[in-house]
Amino acid sequence: MRADTDKWWKTSVIYQIYPRSFYDSNGDGIGDLQGITEKLDYLQELGVDAVWLSPVYRSPQDDNGYDISDYQDIDPIFGSLEDMDRLIGEAKKRGIRIIMDLVLNHTSDEHPWFREAKKSKDNPYHDFYVWRDGEEGVYPNELKSAFCGPAWEWVPELGQYYLHQFSVKQPDLNWENPKLRKAIYEMINWWIDRGVGGFRLDVIDLIGKETDKMIMAEGKMLHPYLQEMSKETFQKADLVTVGEAWSATPERAMKYSNPDGSELSMVFQFEHILLDQQPGKEKWDLMDLPFVEFKKVFSKWQTSLYNKGWNSLFLSNHDLPRSVSRFGDDGKYRKESAKMLATMIHGMQGTPYIYQGEELGMTNVQFDIEDYRDIELLNVYKERIEAGYTEEEVMRSIYAKGRDNARTPMQWNESANAGFTSGTPWIRCNPNYTMINAEEELVDQDSIFHYYRKLVKLRKTEPILTEGRYIPILEEDENIFAYIRESEEEKLLVLCNFRGKEAVYDLPRLWEGQEVLISNYHEEGAFGVLRPYEAKMVIIRKGE
Ligand code: GLC
Ligand code: CA
Repeated sequence: MRADTDKWWKTSVIYQIYPRSFYDSNGDGIGDLQGITEKLDYLQELGVDAVWLSPVYRSPQDDNGYDISDYQDIDPIFGSLEDMDRLIGEAKKRGIRIIMDLVLNHTSDEHPWFREAKKSKDNPYHDFYVWRDGEEGVYPNELKSAFCGPAWEWVPELGQYYLHQFSVKQPDLNWENPKLRKAIYEMINWWIDRGVGGFRLDVIDLIGKETDKMIMAEGKMLHPYLQEMSKETFQKADLVTVGEAWSATPERAMKYSNPDGSELSMVFQFEHILLDQQPGKEKWDLMDLPFVEFKKVFSKWQTSLYNKGWNSLFLSNHDLPRSVSRFGDDGKYRKESAKMLATMIHGMQGTPYIYQGEELGMTNVQFDIEDYRDIELLNVYKERIEAGYTEEEVMRSIYAKGRDNARTPMQWNESANAGFTSGTPWIRCNPNYTMINAEEELVDQDSIFHYYRKLVKLRKTEPILTEGRYIPILEEDENIFAYIRESEEEKLLVLCNFRGKEAVYDLPRLWEGQEVLISNYHEEGAFGVLRPYEAKMVIIRKGE
């Protein structure tokens, strides 16, 4: 096997689309594939190399498509296979690859495999899922669903429980069964033949589960399964593969993203995402971000994977709050802080991901409970109110962490419903679309959009961003996130002020007056001081 020193995805920026909220082409209130095709020029202008689509397969939409009932068809709300082929083709013309979201830990309970599996214990598909004998009301063990309640559902006809780590409508697949694995690989190869550019693998760290030992993430068969899958599928083409792995540590990530290409290209790890919650509790149990720790987590990942693996770089996705609301300031300094966060991420080594609307500085929302749609959010509301939390406490958690923050419609322009749909959107728009929208940002050269465009371009023109070694500096500083990237020819300094006030720093004067690659303030400030949310990249080209 050839070591991958020159993979396309190492110099790429990937854009994530949540299709139901991106652009609705036919007025039914739900974004669709034709809508994405119509917006490809926008993505080309931003300069991204690939687009990851959250699931568009046939699905009852219990968990917005993460419950798949047919892996080899498109859900009619999103369009058809022809629309998919057209999207792949039109994207290709613009140098953009399409990445599909593979949900391999579970299917929908409406998938034909599960319908069969439920018929009898000796049905050939029974073992595609995880069953345990038992008695009604006495669960096989204490496993909990990520969306509230026990992870077991009773099927009286069989006298058995099935495992569901997510909703009851998302039964877990049994990877121990070689027939299931083979069926999955055939399906993946079918998509590869259709011309996709890669895959994002949903909760992939769970597929090696050891149910009776209550080990869900990182079971002992996880990496053997990934190696088998990679050999049978991914390695046949020049793809990017990124696994979602909440349990990843740098040591584990070295396996997942082994440069020999035996598993995946990279994983999404969430260590930096888990910091603003009370230790040992849930994401809803809020805590201020421990800033120094936050920096250390990034630095640890940057240094440990250097030459031993590959990082994915992100602050937001469809499951997380809006990054500017979470880590920046979505009020007075929205523009400055959104650009600052982008600088911090895009200065690192790895593949940066932009989540739709992040390039506009879209913000969190505060809706009444009946305006929310997410199954996880609605479940936690019910559960916590029943458990005696006050309405105010629960809503505070939802405003901060609810997944619908990221799922409100993309803000295209200031016309009704943000130009997202001519009908009634499936979820309300963030009312700030009259101020924050793509049309305005495209015109304004100083916008967050154009700042992202420049960052994406820098990744192409400045090899140090891909190759340079990462060196953390000012590690204990409570306000500034700073690091250096270093290659044989060059040295790059990244400075980011995370506060809405001036912050001072002490660095060698050799950095003074050097070439500024990008900055979110127009005039150069005084050396040794950063203005509110100021960010910049400064480069020293040694050969000069
Ligand atoms: C992943 C997805 C999330 C989904 C869950 C179950 O975490 O990103 O949206 O609800 O898996 O498939
Ligand atoms: Ca539609």
